[in-house]
Amino acid sequence: MNRFEELEDSYGVAAFQKMPLTLVRGKGSLVWDAEGKEYIDFMTGYGVALVGHANDLVIKAIAQQASSLITCHGSFYNDARAELFERLAKIAPRGLGKALLTNSGTETVEAAIKLARRHTGRKKIVSMKGGFHGKTYGSLSATWNRKYRDPFVPLLDGFEFADYGDPESLERLVGQDTAAVLAEPIQGESGILVPPEGYFRQVREVCDRAGALLILDEIQTGLGRTGKMWASEHWGVVPDIMTVSKALGGGVPVGAALTRDDIASSLKGGEHTSTFAGNPLSCAAASAALDFIVENDLPARAREKGKVMKDGLTRIASGHKLAREVRGLGLMLALQTRVDIHSLLLAAEERGAIFAYSGRETFRFLPALVIDDDQIRRGLQILEGAIGEEEKRRFQQD
Ligand SMILES: Cc1ncc(COP(=O)(O)O)c(C=O)c1O
Repeated sequence: MNRFEELEDSYGVAAFQKMPLTLVRGKGSLVWDAEGKEYIDFMTGYGVALVGHANDLVIKAIAQQASSLITCHGSFYNDARAELFERLAKIAPRGLGKALLTNSGTETVEAAIKLARRHTGRKKIVSMKGGFHGKTYGSLSATWNRKYRDPFVPLLDGFEFADYGDPESLERLVGQDTAAVLAEPIQGESGILVPPEGYFRQVREVCDRAGALLILDEIQTGLGRTGKMWASEHWGVVPDIMTVSKALGGGVPVGAALTRDDIASSLKGGEHTSTFAGNPLSCAAASAALDFIVENDLPARAREKGKVMKDGLTRIASGHKLAREVRGLGLMLALQTRVDIHSLLLAAEERGAIFAYSGRETFRFLPALVIDDDQIRRGLQILEGAIGEEEKRRFQQD
């Protein structure tokens, strides 16, 4: 254990389950630890470093903004914030030209829930079994996993869960009292679960019949990750509110709830503000990240590199007993196995690649969209090596 690990463990609340690795530097798809060892990063902070670590455009924007104005409360106008609003409106799905800025994913979901309740005057929020929306009280109330919920009851009233992928289950829960249906287009925490074709169009219809809003949580899927700017585009569905965060700031904390004019105007001045929301530093970083995504057509790159990676994973899955299934779209991919992958994650780290969980038995791959073929090939080699070793150990023991 190095000095940094000792310090974090001594003085930090152990809120995170840690991997034994101290990361000190990053560039593109690569990160380095405190001893200078290099890793290919397929986790990117759960999809945050989508434009790559230390993206040059983002670095420049942050440096320039830091030297002119770092903080500016939302009760004043600001040039960097105005520029971000304009960029968001340009890439937003049709009609969602208004944005409410936040500082994180969970806060963006809170904002979306408040907008929906305020606009409809209704209370009920229907989210999905298996869904994940964050860990503050509103978003946690819409999150399915009991491991996150049970220690913190009572949660908020008025939240119910439908079976993900089953429109009839949703129909049974959604009625005249429903403010909104809240769902991830592809479930990220529960194993990269892609819904059946046509499902979200049916969800849209259920909402429209009941006069309920549709909130799509694109915090993990958005900004090109799945091969389209928004994952909901795969099914031609436009929500009433969309939540965006993670990759938005090029690594800097920021989020945005995108919505329509009529919904935005339900909120009166002062009803939902936050000191740091829309601060110039994160706005400048976000504008740079969005420019990079658009100018380099990263959604197309996610499709192209996603195919290379998915083909490789499928080949690995077909040759190994421990592997079960490959899932996902673009560069939001998963390999489900038959075992707890903790030791496999450690073995991969040892060999120079960082992968993430999506449930105990599933690898989640959310690399930077700037990853190249050679980095994908090396990452897959490391993954296959770790799986092969694990199989040898298990089958020798059997
Ligand atoms: C779909 C989705 N919604 C919300 C969140 C919460 O975001 P944050 O961790 O920034 O609060 C996450 C984070 O993983 C997420 O994947």
